[in-house]
Amino acid sequence: MNEAAVEQLARLFAAARSVLAVQGVTDAGFAAIGALLQELSGASWLRAVELAPKHGGVSESRVLRSDGPEGLTLTLARFSPERATGVHDHGAWGVACVVDGHDRYQRWERLDTGEHPGQARLRLVEEHVSGPGETVFWHDRPHDIHNQQGEGGPVRELVLFGRDTSRIPRRYFDPAAGTYREMLPA
Ligand SMILES: [Fe+2]
Repeated sequence: MNEAAVEQLARLFAAARSVLAVQGVTDAGFAAIGALLQELSGASWLRAVELAPKHGGVSESRVLRSDGPEGLTLTLARFSPERATGVHDHGAWGVACVVDGHDRYQRWERLDTGEHPGQARLRLVEEHVSGPGETVFWHDRPHDIHNQQGEGGPVRELVLFGRDTSRIPRRYFDPAAGTYREMLPA
C-alpha cells in the first residue's frame, strides 16, 4: 500500500467515526458508511492488494486498517464462486461494499434465545446479489449471521467492521442440524 492509500484509509476512518458519532450504530449510520466505502471501492490500488486464505480456502481476506481490537477494522475479502462460505457470524456489526464481481449474500436470523450452547435455530431472512459499488450491512450479534458466495465468478469486497473480527472467535452454523461450533477465523 502506498502513502496515498494509507492517507485515503485514514480519511475514511475519520469520516466513519464522524458518522457514528452523529448517527450512532443505526441503519442510517450504516447507509452513510456504505457511501464512504462505495467511494473507496473504485481506488486502483485495491486491485494490487494480496489476500490470505480464509473459510478453509473458500475465501481470502486481509485487514487494511484497524483501530485495535475494539475499534473500526477494514478488511478486503474475496469470495469464490465454487461454493458458499459456511453460515457464520463475526461478533461485530459490518458494512460491506463490492469492489468487483457479484456477491450472493444470505442473511440469517436466530429463532432461539441462545440458552443452549452449541445449538441454534436459524431462518434465512434475506438473499441479495450485489454488484460493484453496492452495499449490505448487518448489526451486532445476534444479527450478524450470513454466508456469501461469488456469483458467476469471484467477488472482492470491502468490509468495515465495528471490531477487529480477525481476533474474535466466529460461530459456524449448521442450519439443518440446528448446531454451531465456535473457532477463530482460520
Ligand atoms: Fe462474513
